[in-house]
Amino acid sequence: MTVNKHNVPGPVAQAVLARDTASISPSYPRDYPFVMDHGRGSEVWDVDGNRYIDWAAGIATCATGHCHPEVVAAIQAQAEKFLHISADFYHPLWVELAEKLDAIAPFTEDARCFMTNSGTEAVEAAIKLARYHTGRPCFIGFYGAFHGRTMGALAFTASKGVQRAGFSPMLSGVTHLPYPDPYRPLLQGQGTQDAGEAVIAYLEQTVFAQALPPEDVAAVLVEPIQGEGGYIIPPESFLPRLREVCNRHGILLIVDEVQSGMGRTGMMWAVQHGGVEPDILCSAKGIASGIPLGAMVARHSVMTWPRGAHGSTYAGNPLACAAALATIRLIENGLMENAAQPGRWWRKGWRSSSGRLPRRSRRRSSGSEHSGSALHGSFPGQDAGPYSGRGDPCLSTSGLVVSSASTSASTRAGSSSPC
Ligand SMILES: Cc1ncc(COP(=O)(O)O)c(C=O)c1O
Repeated sequence: MTVNKHNVPGPVAQAVLARDTASISPSYPRDYPFVMDHGRGSEVWDVDGNRYIDWAAGIATCATGHCHPEVVAAIQAQAEKFLHISADFYHPLWVELAEKLDAIAPFTEDARCFMTNSGTEAVEAAIKLARYHTGRPCFIGFYGAFHGRTMGALAFTASKGVQRAGFSPMLSGVTHLPYPDPYRPLLQGQGTQDAGEAVIAYLEQTVFAQALPPEDVAAVLVEPIQGEGGYIIPPESFLPRLREVCNRHGILLIVDEVQSGMGRTGMMWAVQHGGVEPDILCSAKGIASGIPLGAMVARHSVMTWPRGAHGSTYAGNPLACAAALATIRLIENGLMENAAQPGRWWRKGWRSSSGRLPRRSRRRSSGSEHSGSALHGSFPGQDAGPYSGRGDPCLSTSGLVVSSASTSASTRAGSSSPC
C-alpha cells in the first residue's frame, strides 16, 4: 500500500474542525481529526482529498461498505414514494423487515419486533419489556459492557467511568458481574473451573445466595462477545451455563447484538456460535448500513405488552426499512462469508505466530469483528489512488481509519494509543 505523505488534517479539514469546536457539543468521544468527504466500499476520502482504508466502518455500522449500490438504490426508490408516515400507521416495508428479522432471529419460537432509531433505544425497549413481562424489578449486567447512553442503558454500561460520571443516580436494580475474560479473569475459578464457570459460580453462590434473590431478577443483559470492553470472547460454556441459570429462575436472557450481530462474526448473530437461544435480542449498527435503525426482537410469548405501552415517532421509518432489507440480503448472499473467511485467516496466522506474541494478544477475533471493518471491500470500477496520512499521529503511519475501544482492546493489548 502506498502512503501519501500529506499533512493531516489538511487546510479544509482544519477549517471544518474550528467551526465544529464552536458549534458542536464537546461530549462526543472523537479520537482524531478525520473529516470525511465521501466513501466507497471500504475506502474513505477526507475533505482535503486524502484517501484511507476505513477499518472503523462508522463504529461497525457500514456493514456493506460505504454507499453500496444496492443499498443506495433501495433508499432512492423508497425516497421517491414517501419519507415518513410515523409509527401511528402501517406500511409494507416495515412488516417485510419484521418478517425478515423473525426469519433470521435465533429463536425456535416465532419472533416479534420493536423498531428503534439506535442501539441504546433497542436496549431501552428490552429493559422495559423485561420488566413489563416478568413483573420483576432487578437486572444483571456485566463490567466492561457498553449498551448505550440513555438513562436505562447507561445503568448497564460499565466500560469507561467518563460515560457515567456526573449522571447518577442511575436506574436502580442493576447488579454487575465480571465478564468472563479468559486471559484476564477478574474471578479465579476453583480447581478446573474456567473463567465462565467462575462467574456462574459467583452469581449463584454469592450474588443470588447473599444479596439478590433470583426471583426479583427480570433479565440478564449480556453481549455475546464484549465489544467496547475489548473484543472479549467468553469461554464456550459461558452462554449455555448462563441460559441454564436463567431457565432455572425464570429470568429472561437478553443478548445485545448491536455490535456483534449482522454477520460480523461469520454467523448472523454471535450468540449462535454457542447454540444458545436468548429471549430478547437487540440489534442496530450494521442492520441498515448506516441509516439509523435499531430493533428489539423478542420471542412471541415474551412480547406481551399492550397497545400504547411503548412507541416512537420514527419507528419503522421507511428509508431505514428499505436500507435494512437490502443490507440483510447482501449479508446473507456473500458478505457473511466475507466476514468468516478473514476470521479463519487471522486465527490461522495467530496460531502459527502465537509463540511469538504476548499471551494477552492472542485470539481476539471472531469473523471480522477484530477490526470493525465493513464486510465489503471495493466495488467494481472503483478508482484507485495512494493512501494518505502524516501530521496527526493516528492517521499518519497507516492510511487506516480505526476506532478505539476500551483499555482492554488498545493499551492492555500492547499498544499505547487507540491507533
Ligand atoms: C453493544 C452495544 N450496545 C449498544 C450500543 C449503543 O448503540 P447506539 O450508539 O446506536 O445507541 C453500542 C454502541 O456502540 C454497542 O456497542
